[in-house]
Amino acid sequence: MAPQDAANARGQFSSRFGFITAATGSAVGLGNIWGFPTQTASHGGGAFVLVYLILAFLLAYPALMAELIIGRHTRHNMVAALPQLCNRPTLQVFGRATGLYGVLTACLILGFYAIVAGWLMAQIPAAIADISGQAVAKQWFSQSSLARDGLFCALFSALTAAIVARGVKDGIERWSTRLMPALIVLMLGLAATVLTLPGAMEGLRLYLIPDFTLITNPGLLGSAMGQAFFSLSLGVGTMLIYGSYVSNSDNLPLTGAYVALVDTGIAFLAGLLIIPAMFVAQQRGIRIYKADDTLIAGPDLILQTLPDLFNSLGVVGSIIGLVFFVLLTIAALTSSISMLEVPVSFALEQFKLSRRRATCWVAATIFTFSLLILFNFDALFGAVVKISTQYSQPLLGVLLCLFAGWALHRNQLLREISAGFPAAEQSLFWKIWPGYIRFVCPLLIIAMFVQNLSG
Ligand code: PHE
Repeated sequence: MAPQDAANARGQFSSRFGFITAATGSAVGLGNIWGFPTQTASHGGGAFVLVYLILAFLLAYPALMAELIIGRHTRHNMVAALPQLCNRPTLQVFGRATGLYGVLTACLILGFYAIVAGWLMAQIPAAIADISGQAVAKQWFSQSSLARDGLFCALFSALTAAIVARGVKDGIERWSTRLMPALIVLMLGLAATVLTLPGAMEGLRLYLIPDFTLITNPGLLGSAMGQAFFSLSLGVGTMLIYGSYVSNSDNLPLTGAYVALVDTGIAFLAGLLIIPAMFVAQQRGIRIYKADDTLIAGPDLILQTLPDLFNSLGVVGSIIGLVFFVLLTIAALTSSISMLEVPVSFALEQFKLSRRRATCWVAATIFTFSLLILFNFDALFGAVVKISTQYSQPLLGVLLCLFAGWALHRNQLLREISAGFPAAEQSLFWKIWPGYIRFVCPLLIIAMFVQNLSG
């Protein structure tokens, strides 16, 4: 079968726009709207923003290209794709093991992501109960409990599975193209509203003016790199499998650049919304600094400080809160479908199951894992987040760069990039990227990884 036919048989995005919305849908998620602003808050504002922007361009975009190129070239999931690039049997085994590690990491990430998304989703009925004056219901939906968290994690997981079961074009692409524009409109509206409130300008200053003395702070570089990898959905084969559904007539370097730009732009916009909102909250008497004088970050910021702010603004605040949590849920959903697609596409190709069956089995298994985390929250949650995002994603990112740089022959690379981009050979991308992805990018990632571990 010709590669194009094979792609059609296994599903394909219907257009370049479809791919860009699905891939940006994957990239834009809690990492942007929750992770980026909270990391910015805990690392002193503008300094983190600056380092993040540099790393997104220097490390994350080249690594994204590695995944997209491997995906489109092999037209397989990560487990089948990597061995296909190698001639030697030992390397093939290594490729397969790397692919399985990627699939496992995607499952771990979805395991905790569905819990967090469930917390956020529960805030939607909480806001509705608040607006309609149902105090008891509001209390139940807004306070964490095993029953509430389990229920909303189940709902979110079922929603994710329902979309993935419909396939690439009718599920993932269709829902991403519906949800992403809604997300951008909601976010612009919210940022514009918050920026008019008293106190917002102080937050804006902290966000936009970097304090260069903070750049050398331990942990800042490592956190910025981890954040960039998480935000662009790298390392776990998500972008690889999406790349495998891209048509041969697409210009990959340009399409990849759009995805990276939209992802970074939305993270930046989320910061523009949340950091000023914190200072608006401070004006209204809400505490935004911890005892050690650093800004409140993490779950407390999203689930305590911001809801306190919304409450203090009366009915208008409740409506803003409702919109904010709808926004977060949409962002989480377009990402979670891309995570689930990784193990599902593997199960489909490996065990020749129907898509519906594969989705049911995989989603049920991951949901069981989420429940396990919920029941052993203190012991498991932080550990799963750390192992999957701080260790596994950068390590897998290095391996994928090495596979793209060393296992793919230069001629194959050029042919792949030239498909959809006939002038590739004369482009700056072709002059820099192949050497960069072989040496510079993996070494930089490893150096920062080690620095982070030792810090
Ligand atoms: N990029 C997503 C976010 O920012 C998370 C994600 C990680 C999605 C890995 C897919 C794979 O929330």
